[in-house]
Amino acid sequence: MASSTWTRRHILSLADFMPSEYDMVLQTAVSFQEVLSRRTKKVPTLQGQVVTNLFFESSTRTRSSFELAAKRLSADILNFAPGTSSLTKGETILDTAKTYLAMGTDMMVIRHREAGVPQAIAAEMDRLGVNVGVLNAGDGLHEHPSQALLDLFTICTLLDSEHPRLSLLEGKKIAIVGDILHSRVARSNIWSLTASGAQVHLAGPPTLLPKLFADFVREESGVRSQESDLIQNSRFKIQNSPPTPHSPLPTHPLPRQLFLHWQIEPALQNADYVMTLRLQRERMTSHLLPSLREYHQRFGITRDRLQLCQPEVKVLHPGPVNRGVEISSDLMDDPQFSLISQQVTSGVAVRMALLYLMGGSR
Ligand code: CP
Repeated sequence: MASSTWTRRHILSLADFMPSEYDMVLQTAVSFQEVLSRRTKKVPTLQGQVVTNLFFESSTRTRSSFELAAKRLSADILNFAPGTSSLTKGETILDTAKTYLAMGTDMMVIRHREAGVPQAIAAEMDRLGVNVGVLNAGDGLHEHPSQALLDLFTICTLLDSEHPRLSLLEGKKIAIVGDILHSRVARSNIWSLTASGAQVHLAGPPTLLPKLFADFVREESGVRSQESDLIQNSRFKIQNSPPTPHSPLPTHPLPRQLFLHWQIEPALQNADYVMTLRLQRERMTSHLLPSLREYHQRFGITRDRLQLCQPEVKVLHPGPVNRGVEISSDLMDDPQFSLISQQVTSGVAVRMALLYLMGGSR
């Protein structure tokens, strides 16, 4: 579990993650999975360090698993609850972050409904010259890196439980189905899965899968990726925060393969994995769908539809799930196909790995 080669202070996006970084996260998470199988599921690794959960938007899985991960590493954890905080008295987000900094926070885990908030706080920490790591736990439509890393871990450990690695997915076909437009999970997964050499097939109705996704992973130097556009276009503005720098995407040994479909069948044909996404009705500003019933008929994942896939196909969903909408209720609970519970379990080991790598590199 050497963290000596981990140099990343913040984890804000997977757009610039290198294959070696994915592999380091996967291997470190395997070690923590072993710790979590012991009777005493705790190690003293982050004793004395303070991890602060700054969740400005609701969460069940991400907030709780970061909290449990920090506790299993013996860190002290602070949980910020916006509704009962001084935000209600007009305190700004940056001043809230600086308040936790003044209490000795070493790492901040940040979720916000607007893209760019974790980036702005990380930039402020860097400007102040403090050695505080920021983890993006989901920012608006932008990214959810720890979710994509736990998805990757869940799939890769099925293929090799002791040595999960990015290259195991080379040549696999992975379908991501549903509300791509509003999904930060899809955006992070596109980066990680295309970096592995897998073929990633996006499928959804045109209103939820705009054509511009075809350009998502263009790597030519100087081409602005959606990653930075989302942050530039965010309504979130912090005065005096430096603009988000745009650097070319890292080159990968394998070309990124991304395909778009406005019907589900070609995406599912011979797929090894199907990731279905929640319809994010809270983010839909106009009538993007005729009805949930029709959506399920056209894009819902059902046993019948899985007949199109490889016989050993597995289904993922980041949760929370609208049962009977994006996936049929009985399929969701069927362990032969569904990896949904395993994803949640993987989340603790993967988030322990992220805190360990960031804490160790401090
Ligand atoms: N997948 C996910 O981010 O779930 P929560 O919103 O419950 O954290």
